[in-house]
Amino acid sequence: MISINDQGLEFHLQTKRSSYLIKVTSTGHLVHLHYGDRLTHRPQFNALEHLYHDKMGSSTDYADIPGQTLNTFRLEVPTFGKGDYRSPLLHVEYTDGSRVTDLLYQSHQLLDSKPSLEGLPSASAERDSHHLVITLADPVTKLEVDVHYSVFSQSDVITRHLVVRNHASRPVQLLRALSSCVDFADESWDLIHLQGKWIKEAQIARQSLEKGTVQIDSKKGVSSANHNPFIALARKETNEHLGACYGFGLMYSGNHLSVAEVSPYNQTRVMTGINDFDFRWELESGERFTTPEIALTYSASGLNRMSQQLHQFINQHVISEQWRNVERPIQVNNWEATYFDFDYDKLDAIAQKAKSIGVELFVLDDGWFGKRNDDTTSLGDYFDNPKLVGGIARISETVKDYGLKFGIWVEPEMVSPDSELFRAHPEWAITHPERTPSLGRNQLVLDMANPEVIDYLFEKLSDVFSRARVDYVKWDHNRNFSDSYAHSLSAKEQASFNHRYVLGLYDLLTRLTKTFPNILFESCSSGGNRFDLGMLSYMPQTWTSDNTDAIERLNIQHGTSLCYPLSAMSAHVAAKPSHQVLRRTPLETRFNVAAFGNFGYQLDITQLTEQETQAVVEQIAFYKQHRQLLQFGRFYRLSSPFEGNITTWLVVNDDGNEALLGYYQKLQQSSGELETIKLPALNPELAFIVRSRAQYREEIETTDTRVNSELYQLYGDQLASVGLPLNNQFMGVEITEHTRYIGDFGSRIYHIMAEGY
Ligand code: GLA
Repeated sequence: MISINDQGLEFHLQTKRSSYLIKVTSTGHLVHLHYGDRLTHRPQFNALEHLYHDKMGSSTDYADIPGQTLNTFRLEVPTFGKGDYRSPLLHVEYTDGSRVTDLLYQSHQLLDSKPSLEGLPSASAERDSHHLVITLADPVTKLEVDVHYSVFSQSDVITRHLVVRNHASRPVQLLRALSSCVDFADESWDLIHLQGKWIKEAQIARQSLEKGTVQIDSKKGVSSANHNPFIALARKETNEHLGACYGFGLMYSGNHLSVAEVSPYNQTRVMTGINDFDFRWELESGERFTTPEIALTYSASGLNRMSQQLHQFINQHVISEQWRNVERPIQVNNWEATYFDFDYDKLDAIAQKAKSIGVELFVLDDGWFGKRNDDTTSLGDYFDNPKLVGGIARISETVKDYGLKFGIWVEPEMVSPDSELFRAHPEWAITHPERTPSLGRNQLVLDMANPEVIDYLFEKLSDVFSRARVDYVKWDHNRNFSDSYAHSLSAKEQASFNHRYVLGLYDLLTRLTKTFPNILFESCSSGGNRFDLGMLSYMPQTWTSDNTDAIERLNIQHGTSLCYPLSAMSAHVAAKPSHQVLRRTPLETRFNVAAFGNFGYQLDITQLTEQETQAVVEQIAFYKQHRQLLQFGRFYRLSSPFEGNITTWLVVNDDGNEALLGYYQKLQQSSGELETIKLPALNPELAFIVRSRAQYREEIETTDTRVNSELYQLYGDQLASVGLPLNNQFMGVEITEHTRYIGDFGSRIYHIMAEGY
């Protein structure tokens, strides 16, 4: 809901549990009054406006108004040059060389339908919602800025973006145009973000903000695994269950920047948007520039609630309608099973076995095209590789005859120097004419800013998707940018290349997803190098990491869930020992971890023993039975792999009468303690049966192949307040029918069901 007090030009945006309140000051600036707990709407809020009235030593007054300094205004769209010395949201250079911008209120408008963003993805609106546009303008330079706000009441999310218009007769240069700024009133905050690298994505980093500026960014061309384009701001005491926090998720897949700045006056400015490093955008007279949309959410009840709100928002408003709440198929992917070493017979054997164990989708990964038998060649040449007799059409037909869906891997944004495409169009690769290009995985980036490249890719990919009657596409992107020089752009356009690349990519994805609405796309970038809301709006799921080791995945999936829902996180059971860390993790743990996500297998299933095959058949049946909950249930991080030996995760259904609890142990301890786990969100009135999933044991030598089954009966209020009293683990003396032997890298999944349901 959006309420406007016309008198004082106050704008009150309310979600179910939060309020976002802004107003126009007497000087004409748009300032922030409150973002946090939901306030009752009142006819006026002027008592909340908290400005310095008295003159400060060494301050710069705003224009000729003594005692009013923009340096302490909590500005919604801070600019540079009129006395605010904090980082600006918008920084513009005009033709006379001046870089001063002063944005003053002009008008506002309530819209019944949410405008889409030119060339960029945007969240689809809630039914019957309103959207607020406040127009600000610089009286001297004629720069106009529309500040857009949309309210998603049910998910407790507010989205923002800017449209910058040049009304002057001469061009202007945008040096920085971020998406949102929130100026908080005090300095007592922790900044949380997801840092990482290849095979170690989404590691949670939490730091206390001090006076000064912290920047989180990507300069890699993609959003990157180094710093995901999501940040959270939390009170020092905030944990998963208690305390105030805010989440900020940017809907963008290229270079991004988040700034958290604590001023000398203890105000904290938080901004996110396109990275201004290596960015310059010329706006001709009459042209406009649209910044990406950003989702803001507030939780008074800890980080779990913040994540759940973002998950709901992504599942309901970011994922395209076609895939909303649609259960995703269980896949087998041949990458870690065969790498490049496959032929028709090998794939056929995998597909046959996949069918027999209950898999639903067969995915043919890298190596099916050109002469690609390793990663040195053929990206760009999407015609059949002779090693695959009959090509993709034949293997697809075989797979479909088994009743499976057929999926295929492509890496469209890249070209190998050793490829027919590169030989035909060297100018389509991002290279500087006078430099030897730096290679990444032996390949070059294509110029996605060039419409000819987009047309070519659309045509080639359309052919591949039709030829093989493709149901699913894994869209990969395996190198970061270097040698940024696009042959299609003029000298003065080069500094806009990074953003033009993303716009080209979004254009291609819009065309392909419209033409092939039934294809399920999964985004991948050497794993989670491009896990962001932008890609998710075209591709409802992402390959979370190339690290398929279950124990490493605990951290990666735990961290990723801070912003992204389980339905978006692909997770597969892979081989033992793990190809990334050489760890030997039990098959059941590999399942128990991957089950909390979009599930599949990525090992040579034709090599499974009889017992392993039986275990896998049962895993798949279990996943199918609980898929709705495991992909779309309300997810709770109960204990963290970043903090201790035991990780616990919970997914609960909306009615609170069914849940699944994942329990994971890194190392077996001697003389362990009695463990209880408090389970929130279940209906307190109902009686529950908690049963461990039947698992095979492979940790200890025994003739009994099953682990002990466990059964507990408690009421919902008891599970929440007292906790689930788990049987003791092995105490060093005996294993009886009560022993919960977990072992090194052991785990359980418990099914929690209300009696009578
Ligand atoms: C990337 C992906 C992998 C796999 C390979 C194929 O590394 O992340 O999952 O598809 O490429 O080359």
